[in-house]
Amino acid sequence: MVNTNVLSRIRLLQGDITTMEVDAIVNAANNDLILGGGVAGAIRIKGGPKIQEECNKIGTIKVGEASVTSAGNLKAKYIIHSASMSLGGWTTAQSLRDAVKNTLLKTEEYQIKTIAFPAIGTGIAGFAADECAKIMFDEIISYLSNKSHLEWLYLVLYDPKTYQIFKEHYDSLRV
Ligand code: APR
Repeated sequence: MVNTNVLSRIRLLQGDITTMEVDAIVNAANNDLILGGGVAGAIRIKGGPKIQEECNKIGTIKVGEASVTSAGNLKAKYIIHSASMSLGGWTTAQSLRDAVKNTLLKTEEYQIKTIAFPAIGTGIAGFAADECAKIMFDEIISYLSNKSHLEWLYLVLYDPKTYQIFKEHYDSLRV
């Protein structure tokens, strides 16, 4: 059973992550930081051109790393670009784990208190949603168990099936 203080800081929602009024929205990024479709597409369209311009200044990062830009026109303060794959490549268990871990470390550097994650890797990058839930919860819980600066961590799932998979995993942690 996971410590209730940790689980109580995690919230699952179904919807569009770009509507979240949080300090940071996590982008499901490629390591070239080129905003394509899916989450990145929604951030690009609603956040405006500033975000890609800032990504272009950062340039290519390593797969598994994370970079921070402003959130452009979105209500959030920051976008954390969590690069779990390379363009044209696939997300792997290790690259997802590294990307989530490095994204969480950025919350400390930027004093981020509230953050929203999508189901990284489970769209264009082809990673299985149930495997993604296991890995994301594992990394998030081990991080929250040691750090308390994060007040709320939202997992925002776009479609009902992915929401259900994450919800079942979340409920299994409470028993
Ligand atoms: N809000 C929340 N979740 C969303 C949204 C949204 N607006 N749009 C899509 N999703 C969901 C997808 O349904 C999927 O479950 O986010 C998950 C991740 O899907 P992708 O965004 O396709 O990300 P990923 O699979 O990690 O692939 C990343 O795709 O768009 C390109 O530039 C991006 O190269 C990168 C790659």
